Amino acid sequence: MSQQQVLGRGIQGEAAQLDRQFHDTVLPFINAYCAGCHGKEKPKGDVNLTAFTTVESVAKEHRQWSAILEQLKSEAMPPETAKKHVCTPTPSSPVAGSRATME
Ligand code: HEC
Repeated sequence: MSQQQVLGRGIQGEAAQLDRQFHDTVLPFINAYCAGCHGKEKPKGDVNLTAFTTVESVAKEHRQWSAILEQLKSEAMPPETAKKHVCTPTPSSPVAGSRATME
């Protein structure tokens, strides 16, 4: 196998791992906290968060995704009126995960 092939496999492996992480942590989080207001039907603020189903879709819409992360960081979303809050992050939530890495 050439070096390039080895490298290519490594990158593919990494992408698959990212995809798995995304499915295991980010998607359940969005479904639990955001999809109620940001689903397909008349999404609030015109933000349809259920459109993000793969790491690829996030990469394509990275600008919108960084706006989403901003909302999460500033805790503007989910809003006060939401039924569920992110104030008790589970270890699997991306917010808790990123906080854990920063601390
Ligand atoms: C109770 C309903 C509700 C929930 C739950 C909710 N949002 Fe929102 N979201 C809104 C409304 C209403 C707007 C548009 C008005 C506004 O900006 O306040 C909005 C706007 C946004 C915007 C666009 C803001 C901008 O400045 O353009 C983003 C990004 C967003 N929400 C992300 C999220 C994320 C991520 C979650 C889950 C953690 C979430 N929202 C959960 C109601 C909700």
